[in-house]
Amino acid sequence: MTILTTPRLVLRPFDPSDAEDLFAVFGNPTAMRYWSTLPHASVADTARMIDRTLAGDPGSHAEFAIEHEGKVIGKVGLWQMPEIGYILHPDYWRRGFATEAVQAVIAHGFETLGLDRITADVDPDNAASLAMLTKLGFVITGQAKNTIEICGKWFDSIYLELLAPDR
Ligand SMILES: CC(C)(COP(=O)(O)OP(=O)(O)OC[C@H]1O[C@@H](n2cnc3c(N)ncnc32)[C@H](O)[C@@H]1OP(=O)(O)O)[C@@H](O)C(=O)NCCC(=O)NCCS
Repeated sequence: MTILTTPRLVLRPFDPSDAEDLFAVFGNPTAMRYWSTLPHASVADTARMIDRTLAGDPGSHAEFAIEHEGKVIGKVGLWQMPEIGYILHPDYWRRGFATEAVQAVIAHGFETLGLDRITADVDPDNAASLAMLTKLGFVITGQAKNTIEICGKWFDSIYLELLAPDR
């Protein structure tokens, strides 16, 4: 079981008891504005997401609950290796928490998992995510139209990557 610690955060595997805290994130329309699914409608949706994550092949993903002062405030990790993803409850935005969590996952991906690159797929309108990744050294490698459909509406993607330091 991998646990990553940063000055203010503990990144640890999900637990079924995280469903309420994570529903506060995944049921929040502001947090979910650029996500690849609709906001969760009930805590049962979030419980199913946790179950799917826990049942997944550990070799294909490394996903963590983000815990701050004993409360789960979001999720970060590599899903569909080597793609990074992250989401925080809006109450915790603009305090450097996502940067801290993503930096820890990048170090884990390169130093422990031996990845040669980490990628990201971001909605072109998601200025916060694009700015954070750029600050962390990610560069844009391409873009595509109509990559995700949610309830009949199509969204575009910007693709980014960060190469391992020794590449
Ligand atoms: C993207 C997200 C994780 C950023 O979290 P955060 O904790 O607020 O980010 P940080 O405080 O570490 O900010 C890092 C940098 O990102 C940029 N940034 C963050 N929020 C921003 C915003 N609203 N507008 C513009 N830039 C922003 C800034 O450059 C910031 O650095 P600065 O504070 O020194 O200016 C958060 O907005 C979020 O959860 N969004 C919803 C989920 C999501 O879109 N996930 C990504 C899918 S690809």
